Amino acid sequence: MSLKEQIDLTKLPKHVAIIMDGNGRWAKKRMLPRIIGHTNGVKTVKKIVEFARKLNIQVLTLYAFSTENWQRPKDEVSGIMTLLKTYLKSELENMIENQISFRVSGDISRMSEDIQAELKEAVDKTKDMKSLVLNLALNYGSRQEILMACRDLMSKGITNPTEQDFSDCLYTKGLPDPDLLIRTSGEMRISNFLLWQIAYTEIYVTDVLWPDFNEDEFCKAIIDYQKRDRRFGKV
Ligand code: FPP
Repeated sequence: MSLKEQIDLTKLPKHVAIIMDGNGRWAKKRMLPRIIGHTNGVKTVKKIVEFARKLNIQVLTLYAFSTENWQRPKDEVSGIMTLLKTYLKSELENMIENQISFRVSGDISRMSEDIQAELKEAVDKTKDMKSLVLNLALNYGSRQEILMACRDLMSKGITNPTEQDFSDCLYTKGLPDPDLLIRTSGEMRISNFLLWQIAYTEIYVTDVLWPDFNEDEFCKAIIDYQKRDRRFGKV
């Protein structure tokens, strides 16, 4: 039986979030510049988005750029931005064709004007799409998001917010919380990602580097997830 056939389609995670780590190590192992690792990382993004849609996953959140990533060498940052721009240009048509709804989590005001325009166009043109929600975390940091939500609540005069009020002030407003968080490349940490949203999320860490991650590795994560006993704090 193939790995895909081992997945219980009645118990799929609704929302899968991924920390796509290891592009740099993948390149280093091959004595290639880091940006080649990111270029191959984008190829994995395309494959996994397509596979998640075919599996009928509802939401896929990908951590593409953190608030801390600006501290990387200038040419690496600009290389990632160029990859992002090329990705948006080449994938918009494909998203529309496949009913993929594109969203962004993060403060995009720090990105260049042309990338902001591309992002807004993609969000706008796909907002009514009905298959997978592809939520790209860009210039995203969870602490920044939580502070933003606090300021937002204060400005609305909400002094005693409910959990729902709080969730509604996050970038992920309206999305279910992730059921499964995958981190590639072996590191056992959360790295300021979706701290509020992952309260009850199952975490899966694989040693596979992001450019080597593929459909089978994604299946393994889902199969592992389906073996977990999710109690949400109950017995
Ligand atoms: C982690 O690898 C990866 C990133 C910080 C960026 C992820 C970016 C992409 C996959 C490309 C941009 C995405 C899109 C959708 C256009 P790392 O560099 O931290 O790897 P390392 O820990 O091995 O150095």
